[in-house]
Parts: sequence; C-alpha cells; structure tokens
Amino acid sequence: MTDLRPKQGKSVFIRTYGCQMNVYDSERMADLLKPIGYEMASAPDDADLVILNTCHIREKAAEKVYSDLGRLKKAKARRAEAGGDMTIAVAGCVAQAEGAEISARAPVVDMVIGPQAYHRLPELLARDARSRGAILETDFAVEEKFDRLAAREADGPAAFITVQEGCDKFCTFCVVPYTRGAEVSRSVDAVVGEARMLAAQGVREITLLGQNVNAWAGAAPAGDKSGAKNGNWGLGELCRHLAKIDGIERIRFTTSHPRDMDDGLIAALGEEQKLMPYLHLPVQSGADDVLKAMNRGHTADHYVRLIEKIRAARPDIAISGDFIVGFPGETTEAFEETLALVETIKYASAYSFKYSRRPGTPGAAMRKQVAEVEKDDRLARLQALLERQRVAFNSAQIGQILPVLFEKPGRHPGQLIGRSPYLQSVHAKAPDSMIGSIAPVRIEGVTPNALAGALNDEGEDAA
Ligand code: 5AD
Ligand code: SF4
Repeated sequence: MTDLRPKQGKSVFIRTYGCQMNVYDSERMADLLKPIGYEMASAPDDADLVILNTCHIREKAAEKVYSDLGRLKKAKARRAEAGGDMTIAVAGCVAQAEGAEISARAPVVDMVIGPQAYHRLPELLARDARSRGAILETDFAVEEKFDRLAAREADGPAAFITVQEGCDKFCTFCVVPYTRGAEVSRSVDAVVGEARMLAAQGVREITLLGQNVNAWAGAAPAGDKSGAKNGNWGLGELCRHLAKIDGIERIRFTTSHPRDMDDGLIAALGEEQKLMPYLHLPVQSGADDVLKAMNRGHTADHYVRLIEKIRAARPDIAISGDFIVGFPGETTEAFEETLALVETIKYASAYSFKYSRRPGTPGAAMRKQVAEVEKDDRLARLQALLERQRVAFNSAQIGQILPVLFEKPGRHPGQLIGRSPYLQSVHAKAPDSMIGSIAPVRIEGVTPNALAGALNDEGEDAA
C-alpha cells in the first residue's frame, strides 16, 4: 500500500563539548538547519544527521570524540540495516586541529567542518547528498560566518551573543589561536541587531561571548557622542550602548584577558548598573616565571593590582578565574605562589585544570614536564581551596535579598531556577508566569551548587 502521509522532515542531533562558544555555535547550527527542514532529534540513534561539536582544549575532551564516533558507527549500521541513513559530521576545534586525520581514524565521518565554516552546513549537506565521501571544510571565513548568522530564535530569557572570536595571545599551552584563528570583532551594528532581535523575543539578559572578549574593538556608529578615542569603541562603550536597548536588563561578558582589561571597561563596570557584578578573569598561575613561560604577558602582581582597581570601581564584584597546575617547569614553590594568589584574591568561583600537552603548542615541546601524580596532588589542593572560597562567597549571601532573573522551572513542582547578579543559580518557589522576570529573592540557604531562597513579597526592594 502506498504511504500517502506527508513526508516527515529530517532530524538532527547535535552534541556539544567544551566552552560556551561551542554552545552558541551549536544553537546557530540548529538555526541554520531549521529552514531546510531539520527538526531536533532527542537521541543520536533517531537522527538523520549527527553533529559532534567538539573541543580540543584538553586531551580528554578530544579523546571523547573518538569514543563517541565508535558508538555512532554502530548506530549508523543499525539505521542502514533498517533501510535508513545517518550523516555524521564533526565540527568545532577538533575538526579544525585534526582535519583529515579524523576521516582517516574514523572513516564513518562524512563531514569535517571547522568552527569558522559551519555557516556553510546547508551547502555541505546538499553536496553530501550528491557525493558520498568525506567533506573537509576548515577555512577561516569568520567574517562571512558573522554575516550569515542574522536570524535566530531565543530559547529563554538569557542568551549568548558572540561579539568576538579568535585569539592573538598565543599562550604557550593553548590551541585556541590555531583552531579559532586570529582575533576578529563583530561590528556594533551586527551585535546591536542581534541584541534587539533577542530583546523583542523577551530576552532580558545577554552574555557577550569571545575567546578574548575584552579585546573587542569596533568603529563607533555615526553620530557617536561617547567621546571615544578616534571614533573607536572598546567593550566598555559597546556594553553602555547595549544597555540602552529596551528590555535588556542585564549584560555579562566572558572570557576576559588581564592584558585587555582597560580603564574604559573598568569604568563601565563601575557605572553601568546593567553590567552584572561578575567577572571571569583567568590568571592561570600565581608565579611570575610560570606566567612568563606561558606567555601571558603580565605578572602576578599586575593581576592582583588589576583586581584591586576593578574592586575599587565595583566593590561587590564577584571574581572568577581559570587555573592550570603542572605547567612545564612549575616547581612546588611556584605552585604555592598560585595558592597564595588565590588566598589574596578570594574567588567566588573558578575552574582549574591539570596541564594537558597539546600537540603543536610550544608547551608540548618544553622540557621539565610535571609528573601526572604531582599534577593530581596540586589540583586536589587548589580545588579544595577554591571550593572553600566558593562556599564562603555563597554563604555570605544568606539573609540578603538578591534580584533574581527566573529562567526555567526547577526540579521540584512549583519551583523556578534563576540567576543572581553574581551568576549563582538560585531556586525559589514561584509561579511559571514569573519566568523572564527579575524579582527580589531572600536567600535562605546554600545547596552544593545553588542558593535556596524565597520570593521577598514584603514590599522590600532587592539590593
Ligand atoms: N591544559 C590545561 N588547561 C588548559 N586550558 C587551556 N589550554 C589548556 C591546556 N593545554 C584552560 C585554561 C583556559 C581554559 C579555557 O582552559 O585555563 O583559560
Ligand atoms: Fe588560549 Fe591564551 Fe588565547 Fe585564552 S588568551 S584563548 S588561554 S591563547
């Protein structure tokens, strides 16, 4: 009997590894695929197209991709037995760094698409349908990509906007300058256009993304009265400008580099109340010789003084950071200097990693690599200290009233989850109708990963 039902659309499953930039890129890939008939599948086995949006920053992240490809090979074979098909694409930084090696090591892969080429997905899929055989697309076409990422749908009251990509810093441990290419900034118009589109869909909080977001630079729009040097804006001016968009109540940005933390941005953090009091400012190490070997371009003292200056401008700011332990040549004394820096700064939250040797980076060829057991020991000590600081920061909020932007339902019925200005998750009893509102919440307790509170309906204003 002939099946007269309309043909079902195709489906795509996207698995995202790594950073927020990858989360953003995965959402944009879904946006690009929707107009050509792709719906989101809930599991890879049900999908006509599976995209692994990969991360190359540490060895473990890259290896996970190959084990996932092993599983996908079986899923693809099962679909073929049932008369179906599955296209497998590897996107992101592993695609960029390992390119042709991926197809050689995992012939099941149909497409390898670098992070600056995914806007060409619709064309590549059309090509794939005609010619089987792996497609490799790893050009750096970031400006073209930015131009094509216009339309998008918001999926909640908080959204990311990429404003900058790539990195020129060449820290000696890091693959990003190789996988994401040179620093490129999106224009003011493009960023404002995306922010307005999101605000019109109910977005209240935007997080500006970039590998070195505070290196963002752009020409001021015509008629600019900000007094910016030579008509050039930095991230501070951009944030002040975005703050004027109706509906946008909160602005964040990540990730910043200490060398690009200029006075304009620090002043904006102090003066623009829509800029949230939270700053992710990685230092990596507290020892000058390690910072030098990492090519970070600043000393530990420079970082400490920078934080003092930022705190003078915005006294309640929550500081977050990234750390690497066991970089080549890091002695026990050097590691203790990292602990001392952490004691001085007092972080609200932080990420810390064991140094992972990345092929092609200068660090990988350095002598005096640190033994794995030593790295384990240092990481455990650093994480214990950072965790104590995180708990202390969170506990200090008990009894405070914080404005919380409610984002989604919580795990328990009648509960919502939102974010405090300091990026802490907060859960409180509140009706679903409050999703998308910013409301005062009295903080009553601390759970391992969140704050617990209650709506403060006694008419008091949030702090
Ligand atoms: N090994 C360990 N951690 C790394 N990072 C970047 N490259 C490496 C590496 N080779 C960490 C840094 C950076 C964060 C995103 O990942 O701390 O800030
Ligand atoms: Fe990597 Fe350093 Fe660039 Fe950050 S600043 S992306 S750590 S090279």
